[in-house]
Amino acid sequence: MKIAMIGAGYVGLVSGACFSDFGHDVVCIDISEDKIARLKRGEIPIYEPGLETLVETNARAGRLSFTTDLNAAVADADVVFIAVGTPSRRGDGHADLSYVYVAAADIARAVTGFTVIVTKSTVPVGTGDAVERIIADTNPDADCVVVSNPEFLREGAAIDDFKRPDRIVVGLEDDRARPVMEEVYRPLYLNQAPLMFTGRRTAELIKYAANGFLAMKITFINEIADLCEKAGGDVQAVARGIGLDNRIGAKFLNAGPGYGGSCFPKDTLALVKTGQDYEAPLRLIETTVAVNDTRKRAMGRKVIAACGGDVRGKTIGLLGLTFKPETDDMRDAPSIAIVQTLLDAGARVRAYDPEGMEMAKTVLDGVEYGADAYDVARGAECLVLVTEWNQFRSLDLDRVKSLLASPVLVDLRNVYRRAEVEKAGLAYISIGRSDQVPVLDPVQTDAAE
Ligand code: UDX
Repeated sequence: MKIAMIGAGYVGLVSGACFSDFGHDVVCIDISEDKIARLKRGEIPIYEPGLETLVETNARAGRLSFTTDLNAAVADADVVFIAVGTPSRRGDGHADLSYVYVAAADIARAVTGFTVIVTKSTVPVGTGDAVERIIADTNPDADCVVVSNPEFLREGAAIDDFKRPDRIVVGLEDDRARPVMEEVYRPLYLNQAPLMFTGRRTAELIKYAANGFLAMKITFINEIADLCEKAGGDVQAVARGIGLDNRIGAKFLNAGPGYGGSCFPKDTLALVKTGQDYEAPLRLIETTVAVNDTRKRAMGRKVIAACGGDVRGKTIGLLGLTFKPETDDMRDAPSIAIVQTLLDAGARVRAYDPEGMEMAKTVLDGVEYGADAYDVARGAECLVLVTEWNQFRSLDLDRVKSLLASPVLVDLRNVYRRAEVEKAGLAYISIGRSDQVPVLDPVQTDAAE
């Protein structure tokens, strides 16, 4: 199969590299000359474990190449993927589809012979229909079918997610695309990965419903964590206790500082807008968005409370800034709101992140950076674990204690056990794990008045 991948961003690059690894002939296209030049030199513009080797191996084997020449790549292709960005539109939270529409018109002008056009970008329901119209309007002679094939890749684990998917969703309205898509995913298909064919609108909705549900699941356990802190309980045990029920499932029940990243915040917002447009409001998702937004700043206040309620002139050390480990991505990271809350309260913030500091410098104002976790701990009033990078999981707590100005560890990812931290002489504040038994009666009744 000859595949053209439009957009050499996160999704395009990972998908293109993986398709070439399946043996397909893949050309990744991007408008950024600089990005393409770097990729040709083997430089990967994003941090994603395993991607550099995958790109290098397949480029050397001649199966993966990079270009800015969309026309030639599309003319030659059997399948054209659209993997351009769909950021939140400024002002209303809708997905901005302008890049998708430009790509559709460009494809229409360049296409030759029967070609399957696949939307991989996350796009609202009905976008496939719009892409089809643009292609027909731009070039009535184009022999194309438009397919929706959403991605479910997690940053930091994207290659594994691509090669070992829970399912592959293909939404189509024209059966001519079916054997082509089976061929594209042949190695996975042969490995029994469920390849689910459905209508195009349904496929578009599956992507948003999946991300909306996962965001809701995280937000649910975060609220249970708050209740555990007040009522006396351990959220991790609650999560395990409910997650062992197969109807609920154990994954995505880690309480933390709120979800961030390039997908959940943007996709939940877009889903809310779509619900409003179709007069089918998604109140659970609306609430999820609101609760998660509030939570991020609340985490800053939690740190302030851990420092006795006043952080003016005090230095707070932050470990981890990216929205999750194994990425350099700072988009909608909880650290942004946490840093702002601390700076607003008059604190000095020192931070360290293994991969995210370069991007953090473009997003965060007024933060100082340390060389490693211990450098950040030195002289700080409190050390806050924000992102659970592996290197923060086994800190020398005695050393941390000796470096801190005041011995407090706030663990927003529940990486440590209270006993080990307290043994090192540090006060320990985590998420949803209270050992204080509340003074309230278990059931508040009017009779008590
Ligand atoms: C997500 C989806 O998982 C993926 O299928 C989709 O295609 C893109 O969006 P990603 O944003 O890369 O992937 O990361 P993910 O691992 O899902 O984490 C998202 C956020 O939720 C992070 O901020 C993470 O810290 C948080 N999270 C995740 C929790 O707080 N608790 C959890 O249990 C899981």
